[in-house]
Amino acid sequence: MQKLIRSAIVPVAGLGTRLLPATKSQPKEMLPVARKPIVQYVAEELVANGIEQILFITGRGKSSIENHFDHDPELARLLQSANKHELMEQLNAVELNAKFFYTRQRLQRGLGDAVLCGENFAGEEPFVVALGDSIIGLHANSQAVSRMAELFHAKRASCVLAVEEVPPEETVHYGIVEPADVDGDVVRVANLVEKPAPGSAPSNLAIAGRYVFSPLIFDMIRRVRPDARGEIQLTDAIQFMCEEGRRVLALKLPPDEKRYDIGNFASYFGTFVEFALADPEYGPGLRAALERLLARAPVRS
Ligand code: G1P
Repeated sequence: MQKLIRSAIVPVAGLGTRLLPATKSQPKEMLPVARKPIVQYVAEELVANGIEQILFITGRGKSSIENHFDHDPELARLLQSANKHELMEQLNAVELNAKFFYTRQRLQRGLGDAVLCGENFAGEEPFVVALGDSIIGLHANSQAVSRMAELFHAKRASCVLAVEEVPPEETVHYGIVEPADVDGDVVRVANLVEKPAPGSAPSNLAIAGRYVFSPLIFDMIRRVRPDARGEIQLTDAIQFMCEEGRRVLALKLPPDEKRYDIGNFASYFGTFVEFALADPEYGPGLRAALERLLARAPVRS
């Protein structure tokens, strides 16, 4: 397969305050979902979509992410001498066939500012941005990023976003697109708004944590003024692309490649249970245990 896009930037600098106390001394991206930390699924998805190099935009307290993708010779020796070959294979898989880079966002100045930290890494080529707290598809089995990259090239777009339909009461939590026209699962974007006030969203299509950008985005980010909370919003930079008449497209995620948002407890709990139920070894036992539990204690609302 032709390599359409080689580089991805994965912002993981957020403080994870919505997941306290679980995230007091560990990054939210390292919380496990069934067998693996969230960031492992994100990296696996990117590599399965042809990405060869990944830059993590980290911050203070995020060094365990770097350790996770590093080789651990002591652990390897220990497993080798204990003949734990299956576990060794699993660990080798963690290291993945990609190059990993790390840089820190020194101040918490928002997602746009975090992406700007990757400007030298991206160079003159188009690149992917994948949010480190979102998994796409059950066990990250999504090819959406490849389809977005194909669309980006075929339509000579400046930006392609993944979007998902959300209930009207949830639009306030996301970047929302205003469609100019819709052709199947491809939306031409007229405008975007970050976290619109209740009742004012231009649609129910929410930005779903995956983007393909031309390097032009960096100039747009530099033009964005900080919002009321001092954050440089990536959505505002994409809006500048729309205003300049650049082609901004969105690809709707199909139901079998839905986004699992790990940024709050409600969706984190649900994601953990869904992934654990799909585990070939432990899923059936968990299902039986849950059924027993639910039969005993009727759910109260
Ligand atoms: C960010 C983006 C938003 C997007 C969301 C997806 O918001 O700013 O446009 O819809 O991720 O998770 P955050 O969740 O960082 O507040």
